[in-house]
Amino acid sequence: MVIKELRLQNVRNYERLIYKPQNGLNILCGQNGQGKTNILEAIYMCCIGKSFRAANDKEIIKWGSEIARMHLQAETGSYDTTVDIALNSSGKKAVKVDGISIVKMAELIGRLNAVVFSPEDLKLVKEAPRERRRYIDIVISQARPSYFYSLSLYTKVLHQRNKLLKDCNKNEKLIKAIPAFDVQLAKYATDIIIKRRDYLEMLDVIAKEYHNQISGGKENLSVEYAPSIIDVTSKDIYDSYIKKLEEKQKDDIRYGSTTVGPHKDDIKLIVNGADARIYSSQGQQRTTALSLRLSEAKLIKKETGHTPVLLLDDILSELDEARQKYLIEHLESEQVFVTVAGRTPLNNIGKIATCINYVQNGMLRQITL
Ligand SMILES: Nc1ncnc2c1ncn2[C@@H]1O[C@H](COP(=O)(O)OP(=O)(O)OP(=O)(O)O)[C@@H](O)[C@H]1O
Ligand SMILES: [Mg+2]
Repeated sequence: MVIKELRLQNVRNYERLIYKPQNGLNILCGQNGQGKTNILEAIYMCCIGKSFRAANDKEIIKWGSEIARMHLQAETGSYDTTVDIALNSSGKKAVKVDGISIVKMAELIGRLNAVVFSPEDLKLVKEAPRERRRYIDIVISQARPSYFYSLSLYTKVLHQRNKLLKDCNKNEKLIKAIPAFDVQLAKYATDIIIKRRDYLEMLDVIAKEYHNQISGGKENLSVEYAPSIIDVTSKDIYDSYIKKLEEKQKDDIRYGSTTVGPHKDDIKLIVNGADARIYSSQGQQRTTALSLRLSEAKLIKKETGHTPVLLLDDILSELDEARQKYLIEHLESEQVFVTVAGRTPLNNIGKIATCINYVQNGMLRQITL
């Protein structure tokens, strides 16, 4: 997949931008705080529907403006796709794909694929399970959009069940309504657990290979699913989950929240036999995060037949020379965007860039090669 055009209006520090990137390696360089990451953020948002860094969509609207607009035109194989997003200051987000308004984000996910690499990726290794669930959810949603449907419906039923649990504290008669929610929850949970298991098995193989190569054969990475329900067949997973929900019902009512299910799953990252979250060095954790991102891109390509757009935000300066070289040589994508802080791009990527843009105060200027 390649992006042909990005247009922004009142997005972050861009009042207006028309950017026509090239196939191959596009570099965005410039001083700190000029708007390099803002461009990657807008591209990602048009592909995935949300920002990789803003907690709230409203942050993206240019200060003092009412509406932010983004327009992206991309080519996947021989198909052209356009995405239009309008965000307003009351928090409403309107999305059009090929000019037609979509009702659910699921209609966007999987159409245009993007993978972002950023220094924040260390969180994938270091922080709580939520970060790793987010990672796997985005990977599978892009590779298999039906997963996103199950996940959205699971989350919706989970919220409804949690509300009911809180209400049960005040009114015991409501307890008999819980099993109907358990049935719904178990249906979606089963699909989520099976897909997470299958995709993590594939990821383990791919990530192991990357990690081994980046570490020069010194380290072995394992990516292991730590599911809430460990049965094998879908019927067994469904039955066990229903049973667990029943067993935990009293606790759940007391906490006013569902204490078991895929929203509690984790992914164990093991480097040379030890939990990377606890025992790995900063460098080993960085290699692990990098392996996970490269694997994400490879898996999406494997499943969809198209390479995702790669967005490398400030990642090169974080890596030593050997790893920079490895990464650059293994970016198997038709189009890559790399941000670099400073006036000129780093030597090793400057040489292979197809297009270099200088970003200054919300404006883009192409540097002739
Ligand atoms: N909603 C907003 N409206 C206007 N300006 C904003 C908004 N949000 C962020 N900015 C501005 O955007 C700039 C940050 O842009 P960005 O994060 O893209 O910088 P960058 O070029 O990637 O910098 P660095 O090299 O430090 O990563 C800052 O100057 C910030 O003040
Ligand atoms: Mg930046």
